[in-house]
Amino acid sequence: MKGTPLTEETYEYIVQRFAKKERELLERMSARAQAAGMPMIMISEEQAKFIAFFLKAIGAKRALDVGTLFGYSAAIMARAMGPGSEVVSLEFSDLHAKVARENLDDLYLRNVQIRPGPALEAMKLMRRESFDFILIDADKPNYVNYLNQALRLIRKGGVIAGDNALAWGKIALPTTGPAPKPGEYRPWLSPDDPDYGTVRAVQEFNAAFAAEKKLFSVIVPIGDGMAMGVVEK
Ligand SMILES: C[S@@+](CC[C@H](N)C(=O)[O-])C[C@H]1O[C@@H](n2cnc3c(N)ncnc32)[C@H](O)[C@@H]1O
Repeated sequence: MKGTPLTEETYEYIVQRFAKKERELLERMSARAQAAGMPMIMISEEQAKFIAFFLKAIGAKRALDVGTLFGYSAAIMARAMGPGSEVVSLEFSDLHAKVARENLDDLYLRNVQIRPGPALEAMKLMRRESFDFILIDADKPNYVNYLNQALRLIRKGGVIAGDNALAWGKIALPTTGPAPKPGEYRPWLSPDDPDYGTVRAVQEFNAAFAAEKKLFSVIVPIGDGMAMGVVEK
């Protein structure tokens, strides 16, 4: 094992000392989402703090949030970038967009624009828009398509990030193995595995990300892993 494994205790230690506000915000925003029966698939609290830290460090003023859910990542980015900034957030579920809008209105975050409909179409429609930071966090089979659009929309020196780059801990599993025999232990994913499609899609995204000549990239092992690439000037 390289590095320090993140135990529950270590995670709590980090949150209690460095991400208390992000936890409070998450509790506040997720209450409405839970009442609406929405899934809790947002970025983690320490990841939220890291994104806020990072946006402040690069002086970002315009961010694109691909996958709104109940507005947590959008709120984190809008707060970190401050006055005069803008977040454009893309969401195809009417329910998610409605709950997110209510959450953001409660927080007086009027600088977040939620654009309804399929995210890929919305990105393709953007002609004269440019962003300092793009967070990709929607349907995994479209990740490579989102990356291609993001490369068109990011400014020089801007950063593209892809969440779930560690695919729920399954990223290193080969996705080529045969179907399992009943009860067999298998250190690979076969096409009959329910996670096969999403893990495979993230593997293809990571490969495209790492091979992209315009990007200088890393995977930050935070939350479920975040691929990050800065566009070389
Ligand atoms: C993982 S959640 C986003 C979490 C959010 N970034 C956060 O951390 O607060 C993914 C969201 O993307 C939305 N989504 C999935 N596929 C989409 C698509 N093709 N177009 C637009 N939104 C999509 C889902 O409805 C869901 O709300």
